[in-house]
Amino acid sequence: MQRILVTGGAGFIGSNFVHYVMEHTGFRVVVLDKLTYAGNLASLAGLPADRVEFVRGDVCDAALVDALVARVDAVVHYAAESHNDNSLTDPSPFLQTNLVGTYTLIEAARRHGRRYHHISTDEVYGDLALDEAARFTEDTPYNPSSPYSSTKAGSDLLVRAWVRSFGLAATISNCSNNYGPYQHVEKFIPRQITNVLDGVRPKLYGAGANVRDWIHANDHSAAVLAILADGVVGETYLIGADGERNNRDVVELILALMGEPADAYDLVADRPGHDLRYAIDSTKLRTELGWAPAYADFESGLAATIDWYRGHEGWWRPQKAATEAQYAGLGR
Ligand code: NAD
Ligand code: TYD
Repeated sequence: MQRILVTGGAGFIGSNFVHYVMEHTGFRVVVLDKLTYAGNLASLAGLPADRVEFVRGDVCDAALVDALVARVDAVVHYAAESHNDNSLTDPSPFLQTNLVGTYTLIEAARRHGRRYHHISTDEVYGDLALDEAARFTEDTPYNPSSPYSSTKAGSDLLVRAWVRSFGLAATISNCSNNYGPYQHVEKFIPRQITNVLDGVRPKLYGAGANVRDWIHANDHSAAVLAILADGVVGETYLIGADGERNNRDVVELILALMGEPADAYDLVADRPGHDLRYAIDSTKLRTELGWAPAYADFESGLAATIDWYRGHEGWWRPQKAATEAQYAGLGR
């Protein structure tokens, strides 16, 4: 594999993946990104111009997608509308980008006989009870809760159908919640870090008891490279780093790492339909592909992420006020 098309490469996880690919492989990358409110070209600054080409465009643009897919060996599809809260306010771009965008890409990959890897989320499985030991596996039935997760679930099912009906050379990965640099300030961890930097108290939905399974974006990237190299076509791999924590614990850790009192946060209105708990069993990925997380210590990964936001105010500041105004409108 020499050249890959990375959709959504100016977003949070996509840009981390492009940086990771530059550091750990000899691949060349074409990034296709629409630069929605969530995309930021500054996230790709400093990358070697002879190995990274940026194309601004929409994954739903069939002619553009066809021309780009024709030029690469493989496609890794990150582009999506990705925020649950936004999907509750206006689901329409989620249906368009997550479903029609995926359809457009897999049709092009099928026509050109290209390897395709589909980036998805553990949220397609719905949620788990707070007080049970069960975790998601590749065999857990789909049961998505929100417009975001249901459109991601639909996109996964399109890929599965294209594998079976048309022989598309595809793999799928469903990853847990990512953290790290370049994450939009609308998301939980960067919102709270930048609130504290602004002297504003972190905001916890409901009672803060909901559990997420945190993984560093670089561990996600390493897993995707392992699947591209050795994954079995037609298979799904769950990606997770045993990082379960409730939201209150995460906020208290952010406050402690930033030198603030542990109770200096506010409880705000809950998210409608708020999934209780996500937890990943990544045994298949670990045993079949030999992947293991390198950022096993959440606390030091979080401390490094706080340092990154402290040192990159110019990256996040332009989005902060509008994001907080949107949350204020929702009472959150
Ligand atoms: P993000 O919102 O930070 O980035 C999405 C990127 O896609 C942006 O650069 C945006 O400009 C681009 N984009 C949106 N619509 C587009 C379109 N129609 N055409 C071209 N580009 C478009 O998202 P993220 O958090 O980096 O998530 C990336 C992928 O990973 C998504 O598929 C998401 O479902 C999946 N995922 C995310 C997480 C997480 O914790 N954030 C966890 C598991 C899986
Ligand atoms: P989020 O980053 O939106 O990811 P997801 O909804 O995909 O899990 O939220 C992570 C968790 O944090 C989720 O349980 C909702 C919660 N949350 C808050 O408590 N406060 C906030 O300000 C935000 C944005 C999220």
